[in-house]
This record gives sequence, C-alpha cells and structure tokens, in this order.
Amino acid sequence: MSTLITNIAELMTQDAEHRVLKNAALVVEGERISWLGPAADAPAADEAVDAGGRALLPGWVDSHTHLIFAGDRTAELEARMAGESYSAGGIAVTTGATRSTSDFDLTRLAMGRVAEAVSQGTTYLETKTGYGLDVDNEARSARIASTVVDEVTYLGAHLVPDGMDAEEYTDLVCGPMLAAVRPFVRWADVFCERGAFTEDQSRRVLQACRDAGLGLRVHGNQLGEGPGVRLAVEFGAASVDHVNYLSAADVDALAASWSGWDGGTGAGRGTVATCLPACDLSTRQPLAPGRELLDAGVQLALASNCNPGTSYTSSMAFCVTTAVLQMRLSVHEAVRAATYGGALALGRESGNDVDGERAVGSIAVGHRADLHLLNAPSATHLAYRPGIPLTHAVWRAGVRAR
Ligand code: NIG
Repeated sequence: MSTLITNIAELMTQDAEHRVLKNAALVVEGERISWLGPAADAPAADEAVDAGGRALLPGWVDSHTHLIFAGDRTAELEARMAGESYSAGGIAVTTGATRSTSDFDLTRLAMGRVAEAVSQGTTYLETKTGYGLDVDNEARSARIASTVVDEVTYLGAHLVPDGMDAEEYTDLVCGPMLAAVRPFVRWADVFCERGAFTEDQSRRVLQACRDAGLGLRVHGNQLGEGPGVRLAVEFGAASVDHVNYLSAADVDALAASWSGWDGGTGAGRGTVATCLPACDLSTRQPLAPGRELLDAGVQLALASNCNPGTSYTSSMAFCVTTAVLQMRLSVHEAVRAATYGGALALGRESGNDVDGERAVGSIAVGHRADLHLLNAPSATHLAYRPGIPLTHAVWRAGVRAR
C-alpha cells in the first residue's frame, strides 16, 4: 500500500543536508518513506492525501519522559508557584501512589499519556522506570513501559526510598534490581544531584549498567552545578538531561565529545544535551543554555520530561515554542532538537535498520514514515501562534495515527 502526500507548502526534512523543500510531495510505502521531492514530479500511488498547502515535519521524538506513574502532585505545583523550591523528595509521593496501583491501571494510565502525545505529533517515545524503587515495582514498571513505548530506560537510581540506607540501595540498584529489569530495558539512567545520588553512587550505577550492556543517560545539573555532565561524558552516555547549571568546563566537555563525530556514519558520537524547558518553567529554574550549547558545537535535544512532579505535559510543541521564544533557538534549530536531536539521544537517527528499526526523527528515503502535518503553512507558526494546537495529521510508522 502506498500513499502520496502532496501539496505540501513546506517540507522540513531535518535530513543530513537540513533541507527545507517548498511545494513538495512525499510517498509512504508500508512503514517507510519511499520518495520525496517537488510535487510536480510526484509518482503515482495507491492513494493520495492533499496536504492543502500545510507544513510537514518529522514526528516529534520525545527522548525523556516518566510515564509509568499514578497519583497527582498538583499541590506541589501550587507550593512552587507560591515560592517554594522543587526538591527530589516529591518522587516518594508518586512512588507510594504507583506501588498501590494495579498493573491494569498503570498500563491504562500510561497508554492514555502516549495517546495524548501522539495526538500532538509525537511519533517516537522513550520512558523511564523510577517510581517503583524496589525490585518488584521497578521490574513491573519496566515491563509495562515496554508494552507502551518505543524505548525503555531503567531509573532505579531516581531516589533513595524512605528508610533505606543510600549505599545499600545503590547495591540493590546495581544488583538484583538491574537483573530484574534487564529483559525489558535498553537504557539506564541515574539522577546525579544533591538530594538524590552522589557522584560515587552514580558512578557505581553507570558502571554496573554499562557492564550489563545498557546504553547510558544521566539526569544532571538540574538543581545546581555538579558532576552529572562530567560523568555522562566520561561514561560516553548518549545524553545528559536537564543541564540547567553548567560551568564553562561542562560546556567544553560536551562540545569535545562531538569533535570526532561523523554525522553520516554515526561514528564518534558524543553526549547529547537534552533540554527540558517545560520542566524548567514548572520548577522556576533558569532555562537550560541551549543557545550557548549549540554555539559551542553540542548536539541538542528537546524533550517534554512528562512526569507528575516537574513537568506534567507531553506537548513537544510547547517545548519548541519556548525554545524559540525564550532560549533563542531558531525555529529550524528547535524543530531539529525535538526530532533529529531526540533520535540522536536515543541512537535511532541513522541507518535504515537499527536492531530491526528504521531511523526516526528525519524525513529521508528509507526512514520510518513518522510524519507531522501542521495546520499552518510553515513551522514558524509554532512560535508565531504559541499555545494554538497546530497538529492536523500524524503518521506513525506509515499508519495514520490522527
Ligand atoms: O526529570 N529530576 C528527576 N526526575 C524528574 C522529576 C521527578 C519527580 O519529581 O517526580 C525530572 O524532572
């Protein structure tokens, strides 16, 4: 089955050449993109969709979410807006609610959040464990996550649960808990921050998870300067997320990690800096220095960080809008960070087959047909019309999802 999407006013490919085509068309065959070019040259297909002069982008790649949870933390947001600061301790509230929720309900809640994201143009999603914090509940979270999203990250090292010794808990995270989640996850993460895990504990977690064959990511430099970025680069993590408080040395280390990168082959990849602007606003932290990072040569991702404590939104459009209006990224840079950048952070940006999956986050022949048609003639409208729901249609792996 092939579908021709034609009459595209602006086709923002986010491909290797950063091409933006005007008056374009594209053909989807099965789950892949099989052709793109000028609308006047489009081949015949089994069916045709008239894009009506709208803009077509890659679907959003949301590379940082925490969707496996139950409960509500509205009161914390109210307290923050009244002047209190965010502390990692709120994670325990969600852990309590999550532990007492059935598999069926946790799955239903997560599926609802995924559906909400897809309806806004997200076509590839990562999510984490981290609200179980004991062996059974982390394994259960990982198993449920593996049924509802594309990529699963083990975040047993999210918070030391009440009543446990931090060193003993770190042993558990590196031992029996890791073994229990291992069949369901591709990535591991650690919240390396004051109030969560120290540098030494984080190092132990990263080492054990790397030894277990997992790709690495780090929550780092969210609430203050610290060792998160340095550790992420040292361990060759695919991404370090939050990055609000960076020293000059942190920026240099991230930039240096990309100095030998070949974007064509993917060889010599560095550590993506993942900015989470919705979280920054909701916690009243300074926005991550995305402009400075890009100027230094760091590859950037934008993600929603959808979670009940610091960022209860799955709106990637909101993140893109904020990145343009407040972080001084161009529209093209912000869309790139929310598509190709997310794919890079998940190691899914290149090749036609990676572990049986096609490249995501950019529009090119052979890539997965993950497409987002805006109800606007150009992507600039994402910043020009803030807050307006602009998603007109979504294809996920070639299937119309909205
Ligand atoms: O990415 N920073 C750590 N983890 C989440 C927040 C978790 C929570 O407060 O529930 C985040 O912001």
